[in-house]
Amino acid sequence: MQRKGTTPVTLDLFADETPQPAIDEQIGPQSFVFRGFALPFVEQLLPALEAILTQAPFRNMVTPGGYTMSVALSSCGEFGWTTDSQGYKYTRTDPQTGQSWPEMPEVFLALARAAAEAAGFADFIPDACLINRYIPGAKMSLHQDKDERGYQWPVVSVSLGIPAMFLFGGHARSDATRRVPLFHGDVVVWGGEDRLRYHGVMPIKQAEHPQLGEQRINFTFRKAR
Ligand code: SIN
Ligand code: FE2
Repeated sequence: MQRKGTTPVTLDLFADETPQPAIDEQIGPQSFVFRGFALPFVEQLLPALEAILTQAPFRNMVTPGGYTMSVALSSCGEFGWTTDSQGYKYTRTDPQTGQSWPEMPEVFLALARAAAEAAGFADFIPDACLINRYIPGAKMSLHQDKDERGYQWPVVSVSLGIPAMFLFGGHARSDATRRVPLFHGDVVVWGGEDRLRYHGVMPIKQAEHPQLGEQRINFTFRKAR
């Protein structure tokens, strides 16, 4: 898979900002880490995130196995991802409020689309964005993102705030994993033959980010339906 370009797409609004040196990494045949790709979007992402969270606050969901997730979740877009004793599913409404999930802000769409395109997936229009909040100690066990119907579309993952060690595995849970440190502004895209690879996040280490404090925020954009 050929990268379409190596320069992060910047919004005209931020054209004056010095582009970050992008030392990107290919972590699978159709998987890439784009370093600092989200940085030109951050000043617009954060207020949009605030607005989403007033409508759909973070909550610690309980998995079907009865485990309370250490990562707090919210969603925006047409569909949100939820879990309860019945299982994992996408819903059009937030079960906590009974309201539709907050609309996906334009800046979220623009970022997801640009990152997908850089990975060779043009015209990505996600209909779901899961928003994860990790505080120090929070982790995400190895899993596949497989509750979506649109496997032909990639997952686009955006990291903000304190660092994380992302684990990128293979198609079996027992396959070896690669450790990928992720920092504020990094974007990971996996799709095509890599779409169903296992991945997770190691327990987050204590740290403080100047803008986000002691937390890591992650967005994952998907095509759910
Ligand atoms: C996820 O797999 O849903 C989240 C990945 C991350 O937090 O980097
Ligand atoms: Fe995932």
